Formats: sequence, structure tokens, C-alpha cells
Amino acid sequence: MANSLFRKKSIDQIKKDYDSTHGGEAGNLKKVLGVRDLTFLGIAAVIGAGIFSTIGNAAFNGGPGVTILFVITAIACGFSALCYAEFASRVPVAGSAYTYSYVTFGELIAWIIGWALILEYAIGNIVVAISWSGYFNNLLENVFHIHLPEWMLVDPMTAKKAFTEASTAFAAGPVTDPTHLKNYQFAVDAWNSAPTIGDWHIFFNLPACIIVILITWLAYTGIKESKQTANYMVMFKIAVIIFVIVAGAFFVDTNNWTPFLPNRFEGVLRGVSAVFYAYIGFDAISTTAEEAKNPQRDMPRAMIYSLLICTVLYILVALVLTGIENYSKFQNVNDPLAFVFANRAPWIETVISVSAVVATTSVLLVFQLGQPRIWMSMSRDGLLPKQFQKIHPKYQTPSFATIVTGFLVAVPALFLEDSLVTDLTSIGTLFAFALVAGGVLLLPPRPREAGRFFLPYINGRFIIPVIFALFLYAFHGRLTDAFANFGNENHQEVLFILFVIISLIITVLTVIRNYSFIPIMGVLFCLYLMVEIPANSWFVFFAWMALGLFIYFLYGFRNSKLADVKA
Ligand code: ALA
Repeated sequence: MANSLFRKKSIDQIKKDYDSTHGGEAGNLKKVLGVRDLTFLGIAAVIGAGIFSTIGNAAFNGGPGVTILFVITAIACGFSALCYAEFASRVPVAGSAYTYSYVTFGELIAWIIGWALILEYAIGNIVVAISWSGYFNNLLENVFHIHLPEWMLVDPMTAKKAFTEASTAFAAGPVTDPTHLKNYQFAVDAWNSAPTIGDWHIFFNLPACIIVILITWLAYTGIKESKQTANYMVMFKIAVIIFVIVAGAFFVDTNNWTPFLPNRFEGVLRGVSAVFYAYIGFDAISTTAEEAKNPQRDMPRAMIYSLLICTVLYILVALVLTGIENYSKFQNVNDPLAFVFANRAPWIETVISVSAVVATTSVLLVFQLGQPRIWMSMSRDGLLPKQFQKIHPKYQTPSFATIVTGFLVAVPALFLEDSLVTDLTSIGTLFAFALVAGGVLLLPPRPREAGRFFLPYINGRFIIPVIFALFLYAFHGRLTDAFANFGNENHQEVLFILFVIISLIITVLTVIRNYSFIPIMGVLFCLYLMVEIPANSWFVFFAWMALGLFIYFLYGFRNSKLADVKA
């Protein structure tokens, strides 16, 4: 049994399986994507709800210092991207981290990763759909003067919380801040106008659901059409972000950058999941391997290019944003880029709202394309029912899996609150990144080949202990506190202590086994960012993973293609 759980697939076997299930041109996905398309696809997935919405609160908590978090997160993603690239150049089959871990860690871990990736792709898209809905409604109101009933624009939890907050604020006296007044008024109107069943007020986010249905239809009808749509949307959103940076630079007041760390580094760290969320997406390129013309050469390049481009843009946006407006103004601001221009140049605010709608639409599209392709790979391996690998005869897309993804995103988008979903998405994705980086350590060496990405080996034996010692030095205060209060410690600090212990073990192993520097840094950075995400979300994450294991033992373990093969 234990052996069977870790049965592995070789890279050759994966390719062979692919050929036999999809022998004949009719069954194949179309190979239409070049390096530019893939890079665009990466950017399409990355720039979205994160930079347009979730960084508002991160800037409020961290102040201008949130820029540092953008740099740290970019470094973490950079190490992971290099590891993804190494796998992508060896395993040119769709499936992302799931396929990669099947090769290195074996079936059980691969299943766990595949299950965690649902958090990144499908569940992550719920946040994007909710963000889309917010900006779309701004546009409807400000540009087209169409007013939808509030109760069909918000989920029940958010509506209830906002109503309670607004009632308390109004009861305390007149509200003078115009932004707060507008938000409170929205909350009260929503509550009072909502239809009721008994005492129960009905709320749902209709635009979020509708956009997911439309995007699912686009993903269903073909990658070529989706590719062209994504390319246009990406060009537009990059142009707008550059415009925001350039135009915003004229409004920057450098006084706003002092103090740089108003809530010390702790404040900055409160933004981890929001900032990391903004970077998620470059890995989605690896789910389209079978639609790439030359995946082994182009996919690694595209991942790195898209990450580099987004990093530069994000750091500049963060600097401009916190330079235009004092960080203290960003509390509960979900449209920070539009917000800073609202009183300075309203026409720029409108441009930003339009581009936010476009940007989030393209993110939705890429993830709605990615999820079915991961399930398709899992189904090929027998871990999911056969329907998930069904390719539509006319559109040549994984039709059944695309529709299931649509349901899984569209229905919760009606009712779920976005903050918990953001944390959950970030934990799930970091977990996958850490395993991909760790997986690289288990790959057999291979010779350098012209035209294929090659991850250089740098011995981590001396550098990793130095970095670990520097980390201990920088965090010694937190660590001493955590140990001194052990027993009464909150869950977050227990996670931190666990991280330090795991890092120590990894450092010792690196010294003994001469592990490669880049993947080890990928693992350490991802684990560190994970432990900074609120412990409450970890409980939901564990529950999700437990459900995944239950399904695996109920179905995947018995139906796996490797079930009859000796482990
Ligand atoms: N990085 C993607 C976004 O910010 C998920 O929308």
C-alpha cells in the first residue's frame, strides 16, 4: 500500500500515455501558441484583481514599505518560476505542478498538488469574478448611469458585515469622510432594499456569476479565439498600467513616502496574501503545454519574461500609489488605482475602471482555461473520471471539464466573501510552488541542450547556511518572543516556529547533500510567505486537503492507471 501511494510516472510514460489517448490529429489540442502568445498568456493571468483591488488594504497596513513586499514576493516567485521552467523544459505535457510532481514525488503528492491547484485556479477565480463585478458596477454607474439594485451586487456575509459597520458608524454621529459615507450608504441601501424571506435578507453577486458563465463559454469554444482575445486584453492593460505609472508620477508627493514603514515590518507582512495573489498566474502558462508550438523552448522563457515584466510594473505602481496618497487613506479601499485619481483627474479614474474590467476579464479567461487542462491530465492518469479528458470534436477543447469549472466558479461567486478566498488561494498556490521547487531536487541530472532551458546548478552548501544565519539574526526578536511564550503562543507564531525548525532541517540537509541553491531558495521563500498568512485560513486549507484525500482514497487510488503496475 505505502509503495503504491508513491508510485511514479516517468516522463516517457507521460508522453506515451498522451500519444495513445490522443493518437490521431482529431483528438489533439491545437498547437498554436508561440513564445509571445505564452508570455501574453502569463501576463493575462497575472495582472488583475491583485494590483487593481487587493493591494489597497496591503498599502494601508504596510505603508510605502509594501513596495518591499512586492520585491520579496517577486524573488520568491522568481525562484519558483526557474523551477517551473526546468520542469516545463523536461515535461512538455499540460498539467502544471500536478504533472511535475507525479514525475518526482509520486501519485499521492501529485494528487494533493492537483487538489491544491483547484484553490489557485477555480477558487482563485472567484475572487477575480467578485473584483470584476465591483469595477463593472462602477462603470455602469459612472459612465452609463445604470443603477443595479445593491442586493444583487454583493454576497450575504459582506452585506451583513457592512450593514453592521455602517449602522454603528451612523449611530456614533455624522460621517464626514466622503469615501466612508459613500460605502456606508451603499451598505444601508443594500440591506433595506433586499428582498426578504422571513428575517432572512437575500443577497447575491449576479454580475460575478454572469461574467464567469460568459468566460466559460469562450473557453469552451476554442483556444484560438481565446488566445486572440487574451492578446488584445493584455496589450490594453499593459498600456494602461504604464500610463498610470507615468501620469501618477506627476502627482507624487515624496513626503508621503516618509515614514516608509509606519507599522514596521509587521504591517508590511499583513499584506502577504494580497501581494502574492497579485503575482499568481505566470505558472498557468504550463497548463497550455500541449497547445504550444515548441513548449520546451518557449514555456520557460515565457514564464520568466512575464514575471519580469509584471515585477517591474508592480514595484513602480506600488511606489506611485503610496506616493500620490498617504497610506492611511487606503483603509477598506478596494479600487486603489482608481481611488487615487478620483479627485485629481476623474477622467483617469474612468480609464482605470475600464482597464480593471478588461484586466480581470483576461485573468478569468486564463484560469478558466487552466483548470480544465489540469483535470484533463488527472483524468488521463485515472485519478478523475474519464469525462474530464473528453475533447470536444469541433472546438478541440476539454469540454466537460470546462463546464464543471464554470459551475465551480460561477455558483460560489454568487455567495462567497472574497478575503478568505484570497488567503486560501495564496496558501494553495504557495504550497504548489514549494513542492515544484522541492521536486527539482529529485530530478536526475541531464546534459545541457541547445534551444532548451537549463537550470544551472549552484551548490547551496555554503550560501544557504549564511542566508539562514542572516534570517535568524534579522528575526531574533520575534523568535525569542515566540519561544519565551511557547504554550500561550497564538497559532501564527506556532507556524513561525515550525518554519524555523523546517528551515534548519533543510539547511542541514543542504550542507550534507550539496543541494542546489535555486530550488532550496524557492522552497524556503514559499514556506516563509505561507506562514505569514492568517492561521484561520490554514484551518480551511487543511479541511480542503482532507476532503481531497478522502476523494483520492475513494476513487483515484483504485482507478489510477498505475494501479496494476508494480510500484
Ligand atoms: N494575479 C491574479 C490577479 O491579480 C490572480 O488577479
